[in-house]
Amino acid sequence: MKVIVTKNYEEASDVMFKEMKEYLVAGKVLGLATGSSPLGLYARMVDDHKKNGTSYKDIKTFNLDEYVGLPITHPESYYAFMHTNLFNHIDIPEENTHVPSGLGEDLEGQALAYDKMIEENPIDIQVLGIGSDGHIAFNEPGTPFDSITHVTDLLEPTIKDNARFFDFDMNKVPHQAVTQGIATIMRAKKIILIATGENKAEAVKAMVEGEIQEACPASILQKHDNVVVVVDESAAKLLNR
Ligand code: F6R
Repeated sequence: MKVIVTKNYEEASDVMFKEMKEYLVAGKVLGLATGSSPLGLYARMVDDHKKNGTSYKDIKTFNLDEYVGLPITHPESYYAFMHTNLFNHIDIPEENTHVPSGLGEDLEGQALAYDKMIEENPIDIQVLGIGSDGHIAFNEPGTPFDSITHVTDLLEPTIKDNARFFDFDMNKVPHQAVTQGIATIMRAKKIILIATGENKAEAVKAMVEGEIQEACPASILQKHDNVVVVVDESAAKLLNR
């Protein structure tokens, strides 16, 4: 696991983009995340597309997760998030983008089909954030390391963290999500994770230096042979450096 410490969020986003840039070529499969952390990276990808003409026509994307029960037109659905912050501003064909569906009768069946699709389109580079409780995607503490894409209940710290997107009302935050599993994420050939701000410091320490255990889902990344963790000074403040 390579850890890069930057001065601030902007510099962290620059490093994320540098890691991503060589993958922005025809035939690559990108694994994407939502949340605040990758916004700087996506802004840089949009900028690069506009200024340098980098094309996404032959690139495919697979997102990590989606809330259960939110229509895709809901501004906080991850489908809408990806379109607002990236897909609408680059030349990627809609059919090349994949966000798991949180709607329908057979969510578990759909989740399995999504996992299979990723198996058939192996992810070259996966973008990750980390929750303050150490979750990656919506794999909460205690999720088995061998899990694949599945439906999950969100735990209170995550519902609390995400209430900021739902008028600070925890009751408005969906309590379930469809998420790539930990084994699914570990299949990506390369992983780049960004964490900034003091509220991520404990999770970053547990991920980088803690015991590899299901109580800290992100700790499994220590076992992946191609991971770059990009953190700012605040998120790195508990690391032994
Ligand atoms: C989002 C996701 C989550 C976030 C995490 C951090 O697709 O999978 O695991 O990466 O909750 O969220 P932010 O970046 O908003 O702090």
